[in-house]
Amino acid sequence: MNVRNKVILVTGGAGGLGAEMVELLCENGAKLYILDLDVQKGEELEKGMRKLSYSATFLKLDLTSEEAWQEVVEKIVAAEGRIDVLVNNAGINIRKPIEEMNFSEFKTMMAVNVGSVFLGTKYVLPVMRKQGGGAIINTSSVCGLIGHRYTPEAYTTTKGAVTLLTKSIASRYGHENIRCNSIHPSTVDTPLVQEMFKDPVKKQQRLDEVPLGRLATSRDVANAVLYLASDEASFINGISLPVDGGVTCC
Ligand SMILES: NC(=O)c1ccc[n+]([C@@H]2O[C@H](COP(=O)([O-])OP(=O)(O)OC[C@H]3O[C@@H](n4cnc5c(N)ncnc54)[C@H](O)[C@@H]3O)[C@@H](O)[C@H]2O)c1
Repeated sequence: MNVRNKVILVTGGAGGLGAEMVELLCENGAKLYILDLDVQKGEELEKGMRKLSYSATFLKLDLTSEEAWQEVVEKIVAAEGRIDVLVNNAGINIRKPIEEMNFSEFKTMMAVNVGSVFLGTKYVLPVMRKQGGGAIINTSSVCGLIGHRYTPEAYTTTKGAVTLLTKSIASRYGHENIRCNSIHPSTVDTPLVQEMFKDPVKKQQRLDEVPLGRLATSRDVANAVLYLASDEASFINGISLPVDGGVTCC
């Protein structure tokens, strides 16, 4: 997959799935910008990537601040002259069902999960238009495609919004050679999930949902991002790509 020398921004890139995306894209020769609130993890990742002679820069950014987005995009354009790919990956999940969640928690989730995609896209689009194209990849979830009974309603609401925001951008900006696609991971094998899996009933519930019979790995998810960012995906626009071992086909 060719992403060599592409300038790629990954939100929530300091940890979890975002850090895996940063590593894989670096390995493939892209120039990465890690946008995150977590300074310690962001700087560690930047250092680790540079040690391997990869190009990675951490910039602290609260993804819900419009002024901060504007500043960061200006800074990157001043340094690189272009932005080829924006990966709107960051997201949070306040794990409470609708009856237990207060409205302020709901608004926080909307601000991070949807607001950050809205703002990032808003400020990167004019840059992509000026340079004649680009690609935007949004991390939704299987919960952006189905109503998942073990997942908080607020999370599903935010991820459903990301799914259609993606298609809306794809339909309006495709003619300017700007592609926009979303990925939809099922549960990824992380330390948090391993903790949850100490409960054998919960573990069985989750594994029973997956036709391929295993959890996703961070690399499975990063591979989907690598593809959608690459030249090989140049005619792929507006898709919702499940990375879910078949969860959403049942
Ligand atoms: N882990 C899974 O099983 C799974 C499954 C499906 C979808 N997803 C989605 O994948 C994405 C990444 O998930 P993850 O598990 O890697 O999460 P994570 O919590 O491990 O990492 C999220 C990153 O986002 C950053 N972040 C959060 N709020 C921010 C803000 N306001 N400004 C700047 N940075 C902020 C955090 O500092 C963190 O580094 C999310 O959108 C999530 O909803 C995850």
